[in-house]
Amino acid sequence: MTSKYTHDSMGIFITFEGGEGSGKSTQIKCLKDKLLSLRPDLEIVISREPGGTEVAEQIRNILVNGAADKLSVKTEALLMIAARAEHIDRVILPALQRGAMVLCDRFKDSSIVYQGLANDIPKEEIDKIHEFALKKCEPDLTILLDIPFETGIKRALDRNEIDQRFEKKGEDFHKKIRDGYLEIASLNPKRIKKINASNSIHNISDEIYQLVKPLILRSKNK
Ligand code: TYD
Repeated sequence: MTSKYTHDSMGIFITFEGGEGSGKSTQIKCLKDKLLSLRPDLEIVISREPGGTEVAEQIRNILVNGAADKLSVKTEALLMIAARAEHIDRVILPALQRGAMVLCDRFKDSSIVYQGLANDIPKEEIDKIHEFALKKCEPDLTILLDIPFETGIKRALDRNEIDQRFEKKGEDFHKKIRDGYLEIASLNPKRIKKINASNSIHNISDEIYQLVKPLILRSKNK
């Protein structure tokens, strides 16, 4: 059954989710290169959350910098989704309406997992805020890069990426993030495809490409 939030524009909306160090940005770049070899005419828009517009990037600064406990989780959820509302209205929907493919590093599932499940806020509460902020905008496909949290944190540490608020939240929090993602993936098996992110970059990118290829071929006939 199609969700009432599925966007109805020509483009294709793909989101990437996963815990710290799961390799989302590397895989987004690999996918873009592969897709352009298949369809050089395709417009591909890469973006990220929180962020993607001038104001959303300002909100991002508030969210990702400073002490781990500087914001209440309710404020955090509202700011994440405020940034998302800007991003949707000004970048994602216009691109989808032009027929572009949008590859987004994190989207609404991050709020459901990070602000919701990892903080014991029921998914339905976060859904209510999204209902107001997003209207029709469910991804066509979500790639979940799944990795044991210890491995992900180690990778992020090796890349010196462990100095931001969310990375400082501790092991319990990161375990809840992984479990939360696995829970929502099992509830949405059609949209969310889980990939083992402990594999090699090459294997992961092949697997993602196989999932995306049918969408792009289908879009030709839309
Ligand atoms: P970033 O440095 O982009 O992390 P990553 O490379 O892991 O994506 O920082 C974004 C952080 O914001 C990340 O730790 C996850 C968090 N986040 C939320 O908690 N909720 C959200 O809705 C989004 C989009 C991100």
